[in-house]
Amino acid sequence: MKNQEEQESQFSQMVDARLSRRRFLTGTAAVGAGAFLSLNPIAKVFADNKKSVLLNFDAVPASTSDTFIVPKGYKATPLVSWGDPLFADSPAFDPSGKQRSKAQLKQFGDNNDGMSLFPISKDRAVIAVNNEYTNYEYLFDHGGQSMTADDVVKAQAAHGVTVFEITSSGGKWQLDKNGTRNRRITANTEMRLTGPAAGHRLMKTKMDPSGTKPLGTFANCANGQTPWGTYLTCEENFDGYFGSVKKVELSDDHKRYGISAQQSEWQWHNTDERFDVSLNPNEPHRFGWIVEIDPHDPTSTPLKRTALGRFKHENAVVVVNDDGHVVVYMGDDERGEHLYKFVSKNKYQQGNNKHNRNLLEEGTLYVAKFGMDDDELKGHGQWLELTFGKNGLDKTNGFGDQAEVVTFARRAATHVGATTMDRPEWVAVHPDKKFVFCTLTNNKHRGVKEGQPVGGPNPRKKNHYGQIVRWAPSNGDHTAKTFTWDLYLIAGNPSVHKGNLYAGSDNINTGNMFNSPDGIGFDKAGRLWIQTDGDYSNKGDFAGQGNNQMLCGDPMTGEVRRFLTGPIACEITGLTFSEDYKTMFVGVQHPGDSGAPSHFPAGGNSKPRSTIMAITRNDGGVIGA
Ligand code: FEO
Ligand code: CA
Ligand code: CA
Ligand code: CA
Repeated sequence: MKNQEEQESQFSQMVDARLSRRRFLTGTAAVGAGAFLSLNPIAKVFADNKKSVLLNFDAVPASTSDTFIVPKGYKATPLVSWGDPLFADSPAFDPSGKQRSKAQLKQFGDNNDGMSLFPISKDRAVIAVNNEYTNYEYLFDHGGQSMTADDVVKAQAAHGVTVFEITSSGGKWQLDKNGTRNRRITANTEMRLTGPAAGHRLMKTKMDPSGTKPLGTFANCANGQTPWGTYLTCEENFDGYFGSVKKVELSDDHKRYGISAQQSEWQWHNTDERFDVSLNPNEPHRFGWIVEIDPHDPTSTPLKRTALGRFKHENAVVVVNDDGHVVVYMGDDERGEHLYKFVSKNKYQQGNNKHNRNLLEEGTLYVAKFGMDDDELKGHGQWLELTFGKNGLDKTNGFGDQAEVVTFARRAATHVGATTMDRPEWVAVHPDKKFVFCTLTNNKHRGVKEGQPVGGPNPRKKNHYGQIVRWAPSNGDHTAKTFTWDLYLIAGNPSVHKGNLYAGSDNINTGNMFNSPDGIGFDKAGRLWIQTDGDYSNKGDFAGQGNNQMLCGDPMTGEVRRFLTGPIACEITGLTFSEDYKTMFVGVQHPGDSGAPSHFPAGGNSKPRSTIMAITRNDGGVIGA
């Protein structure tokens, strides 16, 4: 066992090697040093930069083909696609775009994103998956050009969440149309608000004077899974669904969340007045939350957990701290927004799920402030508390109570001095619980727009490639107010850029390069799976990077290897495993986006359809091992 000093020095040598291009940084602005700690806990884990023993598959080259390519010895088959029947009496998918809302309500939703698998038995499980949005060019025969009231209901039914059972025979998983848990949750499903904002005046509408019963969820990006067996779905780009038929001045708070009184491209407000902000100015306050769903009870009411804050949620990774408090890390995916964590008031009790079911109702919300060590791409950080009456979050600064703090969490975060980030997407906690990773996908405003200074974990002006930041909570305590961070990787293009940070960190090369890391998650063995949602032009700054893809990283050595490539114009998003880790489920979202020539997954001249793929090894082994 090395002593602490040796470990720290070895750690900084490794960071220096990987990030040796920092001297080429221009316009670096220190974010302001936090309370610096003497011990860097990451050093203990990242001491040896040796070849990975975790990654045991052959790298897949970059691809521009309209196929889903997995490593040699692996097989991928579609599990379910947009429009597939979900129940025994569901109509079959009709590619004409003429099906009515009634059909979509009984079929798999569109644009699958984050998902979680909940085991039931050895050969049965239930998957809950988000249906983030829909593509009007494929949903309708008219492409959205002449929307009827039923078309709006159909679009709303293509959104939300799908819950479905799968069964396995001989290691092959299939959807079970007779599964008793199968369920569609849409933009019109009744939900309940819980926590500090429930019943607040900001939540009250004409339709719901109680301010506790919002309808539906939509723009659900990624997800979370609790140890008490519930699914978390995260409301992200909800702002675009609101519009107005007449001109109306909106509050600064609405503007901060992107709400506008223009024609919304979704056109829901034309036939569903709930989405017209001139008539229902509080309706947008009922979105932008984390929603907790019981995937085992199709009659259960989904619960919007306002204690976790309102912003454009990406995912919600849950960790039970050693002392029993439940901690949830969450990114707000917008240029210059922030990274948050929630700490439950009460403690997790193993086996007492009646108690655990209430853990997300009450707790403390924090936002991250990163400080850097001199001009290094590492440093220390602080979690700043977002509690009414603390840190200036009071009436003199425009906050009337905790409901206003959580509903306008972005404004509260700015007030306390949170770091503006390069679009925080997914957060993942390593299985040993000692460190946490977050993708910062890209940011064309960094260093260009006021209030988004270059520096710390956001080291590049006009960042079009993205990076992954990691941190270790002080003393391994996820409730701690301080942490130590560095960058796990800086994505870039070493064939286009030389000798500066746009070439990427030293663990990025021409064989594994990519842009815009987005979905991430660890498997049980500690492999870090990285999915991309980036520029797939394969030109200019992105030459040689091909279609969106999934890679696998070793968090110990920094090695990154490409595992799969997706079809044309898709994003790879959504990741979960069978209980034995021998099947991996991966989402292909919006193949053929914006009319690009994809016919995935059926090929020929078929309509492209978002699809969950099931990946297995020909020898039946554990994925990646
Ligand atoms: Fe829906 Fe931030 O990705
Ligand atoms: Ca995403
Ligand atoms: Ca993204
Ligand atoms: Ca997406």
